Amino acid sequence: MPFVYKHKQCVLLFTLILLLQSTQITRADVTAVIVFGDSTVDSGNNDFIKTIGKSNFRPYGRDIYGGIPTGRFSNGRLPTDFISEAFGLSPFIPAFLDPSYTIKDFVLGVCFASAFTGWDNVTADIFNVIPISTQLEYYKQYQVMLKEYQGEARAKETIRQALHAVSLGTNDFIENYFLLPVRSSQFTISEYIDFLISIVDNFVREIYKLGARKMGIVSLPPIGCIPFERTINLAALGQCREEINKAARDFTSKQEQLVAKLNAELPGLKIVLGNIYGLGIDIISNPSAYGGPRSCFENVVTGCCGTGLLEVSILCNSLSPTCPNAHKPTDKYAFWDSVHPSQKAYSIVAGYLLKTALSVFL
Ligand SMILES: *[C@@H]1O[C@H](CO)[C@@H](O)[C@H](O)[C@H]1NC(C)=O
Repeated sequence: MPFVYKHKQCVLLFTLILLLQSTQITRADVTAVIVFGDSTVDSGNNDFIKTIGKSNFRPYGRDIYGGIPTGRFSNGRLPTDFISEAFGLSPFIPAFLDPSYTIKDFVLGVCFASAFTGWDNVTADIFNVIPISTQLEYYKQYQVMLKEYQGEARAKETIRQALHAVSLGTNDFIENYFLLPVRSSQFTISEYIDFLISIVDNFVREIYKLGARKMGIVSLPPIGCIPFERTINLAALGQCREEINKAARDFTSKQEQLVAKLNAELPGLKIVLGNIYGLGIDIISNPSAYGGPRSCFENVVTGCCGTGLLEVSILCNSLSPTCPNAHKPTDKYAFWDSVHPSQKAYSIVAGYLLKTALSVFL
C-alpha cells in the first residue's frame, strides 16, 4: 500500500512540475514549506506513534489517492498542501515520521505536526501525541539531515528561505481548557491565553535562532462553531459556543500583538499572522457564496462523516456512512467530520491565506 501511495504521489508531482514549466509560473523564492502544528496540518505523523488519535483508515482521505487514507484528518488535502503547491513546491507535504520518505523528499517540505496536540504540553498528553517541544527536536534533526544532504551553506540558505508554517492552538481550547478540569482550575481563560502566548513567543525565538526567517502563523477559526461544539452545547443545542469563539478571538488578537513585537525585535525576521476568523464566520453565514454557483456549500453545520454530530478519528470509520460526493473532488459540506473542515473548505482557506498574509512571500 505505501508503494501505491508513493507512486501516485510521484506521478502527481511530476505532472505538476510539467504543468508549472509549461505555463511559466514564476517560482517563488520560498525554497520549502516546513510545517508545525496539529491535525489541521498533520500529513500522517500520528500513524507512526502510539496514540488512538489517528485517521489512517477509511473513509479519511476518501477523495484523493483513490480513497487510500494517508493520515490526513480530512477527505483530501490540507491547507499546507495547497499552499506548498502554490509556491511551486510539492502538492503533498510528507510527514517526517513516515519511514517511506527520506531527506530527498523532505528538501522541498516536511511536516512535524501531530493531530490532537497543542501549544500546551498538557494538551499533547491527553492523547499521547507529539508536543511542540518534540516537533522542535524533529526540526533540529531535520536540519542535521539537510546539512548532510545539501552541504552546510546551501542547507542554511534553504532554511532561511523556507516558509515555516504553524497551525496550532485549537486543541488547547476545545480538547483541554473547555473540556477538562486541569487547566480551567489553574487559570482563568485570560491567564491561560497569556500562558499560551508565552509558549508561542518562545517557539518563534527558538526557530529564529535555528535560522528560520520566513514564518506564517494562522489564527484560530471560529472553533465554537465546529459541529462537535454545537453538539455538546447543552445551553443552546446546535448553536455555536460563544465563549469558545471569544477565546479564539482573544487568542488571535494577542497573537497579532506578538507578531508585531517579534517583527520589530528580531532582525531579518518576516513573520505574518493569517487571520481566518472572519472568513470562517462568513462561510458559516453565507455558505452559498463559497465554492462556485453549481457546487457551493449546502451544509456548514454537521460533518460529512456519519451523523456529522460527534464522529471524529476512530469514531469516523469504515462503518460510518458518508455524504454523497457529486462534484468530486469537492463536496457540499464545509466539515468533513465533527471537528475538521473538508478538503474544499481547506482549499478556500489556503486561497484566502495566499491572497492575504502569505502574499508577501509569493
Ligand atoms: C513541555 O515539555 C518539554 C519537555 O518535557 C519541556 O522542555 C518544556 O519546558 C515544557 N513546556 C512548558 C511550557 O511547560
